Amino acid sequence: MISIDELASYCKRRGFVYPSGEIYGGLSGFYDFGPLGVEMKNRIKQNWWNEFVKNEENIVGLDGSIITNPKVWEVSGHTENFTDPIITCTKCNKEYRADHVIEDVLKISTDGLDVKALNKLIRENKIKCSNCKKEFSNTKVFNLMFETSVGAESENKAYLRPETAQLIFANFKNVYENSRLKLPCGIAQIGKAYRNEIRPRNFLFRVREFEHMELEFFINPNKKNDCPRLQEVEDLEISVYTQEMQEKKLKHKKMSIKECVKKGVMKNKWQAYWNARMCKWYLSLGINPKKLRLRQHLKKELSHYAEDTWDVEYQFSFGWKEIAGNANRGQFDLKQHEQFSKKKMSVMDDDKKVMPYVASEPSLGVERAFLTLIVDAYTQEKERIVLKLSPKIAPVQIAVFPLVNKEELPEKSRQIFELLKNEFQTFYDASGSIGRRYRRQDEIGTPYCVTIDYETMEDNTVTIRDRDSMKQWRENVNELITVLKPRLK
Ligand code: GAP
Repeated sequence: MISIDELASYCKRRGFVYPSGEIYGGLSGFYDFGPLGVEMKNRIKQNWWNEFVKNEENIVGLDGSIITNPKVWEVSGHTENFTDPIITCTKCNKEYRADHVIEDVLKISTDGLDVKALNKLIRENKIKCSNCKKEFSNTKVFNLMFETSVGAESENKAYLRPETAQLIFANFKNVYENSRLKLPCGIAQIGKAYRNEIRPRNFLFRVREFEHMELEFFINPNKKNDCPRLQEVEDLEISVYTQEMQEKKLKHKKMSIKECVKKGVMKNKWQAYWNARMCKWYLSLGINPKKLRLRQHLKKELSHYAEDTWDVEYQFSFGWKEIAGNANRGQFDLKQHEQFSKKKMSVMDDDKKVMPYVASEPSLGVERAFLTLIVDAYTQEKERIVLKLSPKIAPVQIAVFPLVNKEELPEKSRQIFELLKNEFQTFYDASGSIGRRYRRQDEIGTPYCVTIDYETMEDNTVTIRDRDSMKQWRENVNELITVLKPRLK
């Protein structure tokens, strides 16, 4: 598997991702997306939106503001609880996340350990700063929200939102009424989120500015297990890593969603349903199922608002890591906002007033999804690098080439390019040897290349080349869209 540093330099070389402000040395945890990166990122977001909002009858969208009334974050618990443990080197003043340092040095999991326990581990194991080998300060908590001020009076403190979810809760009543929603229903959002991570690392995996794609799914609290849609996904088989397996130091186990519900491993059917939907979304984009698993949070690891949480994890070169989360937030957020805003959040269902219950919160970062999809697709073959991206998210779907850039071939190629570009993400390239052009497209994940040659001028056929098999065949230009459309879905 490609190392994360090699991947970062490949992404820069190919115009996917650049360190932000690189001409001045960059800024840790911030990245800019280049021409191919922005196409791929937009396609990931569009695909997620189609899948989780557009194609769903009872799920609607929202686009909340990045800065909102700071009371939102106080009431949600973020001002008090959205923290990570920080240690500082007593000599060079470098800051580290205490849990990450311990995990790196001792190769153990620190999930759920509090500040005191982390401190003890650092002292007992004499863990020192990797930079200058000096001792660390005591572990402290550090709030990850970026602070800013609003207007000319600097005491008007506000925060850049650390998640999109709270804007959904704060707007719940407006959206529910305006859209004439009925439980069970969902509200989704894609937008920027900011976290002042102590030590961003692993390229796009942990960044300070990212885009969140979140869905809050509301149900009637008296119908927690009334989930008629479970049968749509219950046959999905996936590796599952329960609390019990982790506590007993067992390995994860392949189970069907049906089995997970039946055995009580997933206690809430709606959460099980959305766990499956999140995995199915990744699988539909071609992710290797062997590198995907569902891991349940340990009790001591749960966020302050969560009753039960499942993460979708991917096996990176740096270990199994969360690529999406799905918390059962219960009634925590709506109850909090009702209490402190004095605005009613309950709704009518079956002629009874109920406080909606968030059984499920599928939540992921676009950058982390982007990284996972690229890592999984990156393939080093004997003679070439090929990015086996799903055509659904490849930044270019078809590249059109005239075999040579002379006589009538460029004009015919341009006509074909115009024809295809109305339907697909299409790119035109007339320079360099044909072999080089194929290789260049392989490296950026273009599923098909269409080459126009002298035979085209005689019989109106072109060569289509398949990225993965490198097989080539001829097709009539009039048939191109019909032939390529189902392959690019
Ligand atoms: N509203 C719930 C929530 O925010 P989370 O587990 O903190 O839950 C959910 O985040 C997802 O957001 C993660 O699975 C990850 O995909 C993404 N994410 C969180 N922090 C991130 C960061 N610093 N960099 C990139 N992605 C991040």
